[in-house]
Amino acid sequence: MSEVTTNEYNQDGKLIRKVRSFVRREGRLTKGQENAMNECWPTMGIDYQSQFLNWKDVFGNDNPVVLEVGFGMGASLVEMAKNTPEKNFLGIEVHSPGVGACLADASAAGITNLRVMCHDAVEVFANMIPDSSLATLQLFFPDPWHKKRHHKRRIVQLDFAEMVRQKLIIDDGIFHMATDWENYAQHMIEVMNQAHGYENIAEGGDFVSRPEDRPLTKFEARGHRLGHGVWDIKFKRVS
Ligand SMILES: C[S@@+](CC[C@H](N)C(=O)[O-])C[C@H]1O[C@@H](n2cnc3c(N)ncnc32)[C@H](O)[C@@H]1O
Repeated sequence: MSEVTTNEYNQDGKLIRKVRSFVRREGRLTKGQENAMNECWPTMGIDYQSQFLNWKDVFGNDNPVVLEVGFGMGASLVEMAKNTPEKNFLGIEVHSPGVGACLADASAAGITNLRVMCHDAVEVFANMIPDSSLATLQLFFPDPWHKKRHHKRRIVQLDFAEMVRQKLIIDDGIFHMATDWENYAQHMIEVMNQAHGYENIAEGGDFVSRPEDRPLTKFEARGHRLGHGVWDIKFKRVS
């Protein structure tokens, strides 16, 4: 598999340093994860390329597409795909052991409505996701980047919100975020309130109650152990 980011250079041939929402971690795969990669990638993996996907070609049907950014080890994504066979799921994660773990679980569950990518979701969005084509974008427990000087690394920023909006179906597509970090929850609301073309679907204009169809994620369980709260946020694309 190739690198999870593509390098861009300026006119002088110098590498353009971008602020990313993740740091590369040493990715040693277990034997099981490696086997799942080898066995399942040809059917469930999508390689990064600078070309827009055609969902019918990818999934073999016209079912609604749910895209999840940063699925971690993928257990909750696999469970959701298994519980919702009438929808298609694409998961994007930069951490390759997580991708291997997700493929192993997906294969054990025997599901056919899930595809995965191992690449920076921001680049995938810009170059591979067709406009106005997503039913839902899921962003569950993204890295909170606690320190103020690191807040610029948070994936939820105005540019990201605008990129997501373009990919959601107009008047229907939902951007669903969840976090266990209150300061990030407030940041999400602030950014989304500033972003153009969205409506918060929460009755009180802030948070929705925890949806029953969102399986518990690994980081959510960790948050519970640490005594954190959980905030779910859903914005709809309206223009
Ligand atoms: C805190 S973990 C949460 C994982 C999972 N959603 C959960 O709740 O257990 C955030 C994940 O997002 C991934 N990630 C961060 N930025 C990403 C990006 N730009 N593209 C793809 N994955 C990203 C990280 O590698 C990490 O696995």
